[in-house]
Amino acid sequence: MIHRVKSTINLKALTNNLEIARSHAKNRKIVAVIKANAYGHGLIPAAEALQAADIYGVTDVNEADQLTAAGTDKTILILQGIIERADIARIAEAGYQVVIHSLKQISWLEDELSNITLTKPLRFWLKMNSGMGRLGIMPADFTAAYQNLQGKPWCQEVILMTHMANANLKDSELNQQQLDTFSEITKQIPEAATSIQASSALLASYGESADWVRPGIMLYGSSPFAFSDEQSRRESFGLQAVMTLQARLISIQDCKAGDNIGYCSQFICPHDMRIGIVSIGYADGYPSNAPNGTPVLINGKRTVTTGRVSMDMLAIDLSPAPDAQIGDSVTLWGDDLSLDEIAEHTGILSYNLTCSIANRVAREYKN
Ligand SMILES: Cc1ncc(COP(=O)(O)O)c(C=O)c1O
Repeated sequence: MIHRVKSTINLKALTNNLEIARSHAKNRKIVAVIKANAYGHGLIPAAEALQAADIYGVTDVNEADQLTAAGTDKTILILQGIIERADIARIAEAGYQVVIHSLKQISWLEDELSNITLTKPLRFWLKMNSGMGRLGIMPADFTAAYQNLQGKPWCQEVILMTHMANANLKDSELNQQQLDTFSEITKQIPEAATSIQASSALLASYGESADWVRPGIMLYGSSPFAFSDEQSRRESFGLQAVMTLQARLISIQDCKAGDNIGYCSQFICPHDMRIGIVSIGYADGYPSNAPNGTPVLINGKRTVTTGRVSMDMLAIDLSPAPDAQIGDSVTLWGDDLSLDEIAEHTGILSYNLTCSIANRVAREYKN
């Protein structure tokens, strides 16, 4: 039952999408990326649905602790690394794996871990900035950083990783440049396991030689490629929608040609038409910049938004649904209306759309 707005999370679809990731990963290991509250889908239920992953990837110690408190027995990797020195004692106590992306962090570990007796040495993921230009140790410093870390008594294993900037852009020259930079350095460290691919690189088969894959967005049923590329839409990979966002029709207006709809006259009725008012707005996480013509479904029939999105409501054209009644269900995205299509219409990434669903939106989990 929808009250005002409801986000239904299909847990079977999450499990299905992990199987798709597994089929692309073949016999390689999978970090299921469930950071940022599982991209807005709910950390703990998503983790349970993704139990077949090898390990979980989260943003920080806080998210790792939420999983631990929920009783997970799976290994957790902290992708954003050590934010402050105080994180190190908790990482050591809980045995979390952590990404090391700067030389500074190695010196913090040296200082902090010399005072702690560990029950077991720790595993680290050493990140190279091979061209992403965000986090990571520069290639020239990488081998020495690896040797330094690997030589410590508190270090059990170092996995070498990098992250691709443009793997969703098939023609980008940076893709091969990043792969070459990473491979040139890591071939001097043949004993270490490696990791390159997030969803787009995994689906586009870049960097297949690496031992670990790190899919995120594909698990949530969104294709990392542009919606305009029809060959690369979610269905062509067998990915299923995970989140369905629904609201209700709360008012119907019979409008005349020339009538204004909503703020700033973003929509003026071009002819007599019925306009429906829907119980969702930007305070629920629907994007405020959705232009006129953004698709929605009313009782399963496709129509479009008319006018500017308000805080708690938006307007739609009821012409394709003459029988629509107050209380009817309106789908903003889900099985029959791809999140990726809404991302394209609004210019807001699918990642951003699901992460933006507000706390006041009811979440329901479906098995
Ligand atoms: C280091 C790292 N690995 C993996 C991922 C997952 O990426 P995607 O959601 O595109 O699969 C991310 C996401 O930002 C990331 O930062």
